[in-house]
Amino acid sequence: MSQLPANYKEIYTAQRVEKNKKLAARLERMGFHQVAGDIFAHPTQYIETDFNPVKTWIEYVNRLVGALIGVFVFGTVLFALPYWQRDRTVFWLAFASFLLTGVQGWLGSLVVSTNLLPIMVTIHMGLALLIVAMLLYAVDRSQRGAVADIEPIREISGLGGWLWVAVLLTFVQIVLGTQVREQVDLVASAAQYLNRGGWVEQLGGVFKFHRTFSAVLLLVNLYVAYRLYTTSSARLHRLATAIVGLIGGEIIAGIILTYFSFPAAAQPVHLTLATLLFGAQFLAVVAYHRATKLRRQVATTAVVA
Ligand code: HEM
Repeated sequence: MSQLPANYKEIYTAQRVEKNKKLAARLERMGFHQVAGDIFAHPTQYIETDFNPVKTWIEYVNRLVGALIGVFVFGTVLFALPYWQRDRTVFWLAFASFLLTGVQGWLGSLVVSTNLLPIMVTIHMGLALLIVAMLLYAVDRSQRGAVADIEPIREISGLGGWLWVAVLLTFVQIVLGTQVREQVDLVASAAQYLNRGGWVEQLGGVFKFHRTFSAVLLLVNLYVAYRLYTTSSARLHRLATAIVGLIGGEIIAGIILTYFSFPAAAQPVHLTLATLLFGAQFLAVVAYHRATKLRRQVATTAVVA
């Protein structure tokens, strides 16, 4: 702290505002007038933030982990090179994930420079989920024909569609969640991070919708899990169990946040479980389609033979 200049807050706020001006000008040129305007209309970017060593370290570690992820995703592209001959989609998925990871890093820097501008946090989260889905799909495609590939199963009427509904609803719920989070940040900073128990009453309609929507999500997921259990695939049974466990844990974490004064430890738990839930549901979509497709192939081969 003593190594910082006395007017460090003004200096860093000015640097952030300068970066945001460039961003807003670029967005204007690309035709995104609304977003460009929002950046300046929103109060968050002008907030002069106190230096906080713990948060600085967290952000620094986040950047290091981000860089490490970039290295791993680049490794994935290298390992996907042999698929150029076998299944080009695997290579393109890996390559696109690598490019998007770069975009994600850049977006992350904007999340910081705009001081957590709501739209930036939401886009950052949405892109993270897209990258997760692309990588999971690339891994699944690369395993096709491997010894431990999934066992073929008969198609169950409507289940493919319901699995997609579950993933998409979770995506929507996560986007809503980031908006609740943004409101919590505003309410908390207005209350100077005191009186945590009183924050929840000040949250608006998005929070109430998020809370109620989780009941819809629970019902859809219980239904999907029940139908996955009726298949003969052990892998789909495991994924169904994971989905039920994750959504249960997620709702408990949400309840703890809301009714036990936002304990700090529950925030990352709520976020992590949401991402894992999305991942497990997406894996179930991919595995189910794979298993039913295999079954159709087996049936066609039998008829031809
Ligand atoms: C399947 C159900 C749910 C999903 C997928 C979900 C997802 C999320 C996500 C991704 C966030 C953003 C977290 C962040 O950016 O740090 C969030 C925030 C939040 N959610 Fe949920 N949520 C669910 C259920 C619930 C329930 C049932 C409640 C309350 C009873 C709840 C209350 C909250 C609150 C209060 C926040 C703001 C948390 C904070 O300040 O860190 N959520 N949710």
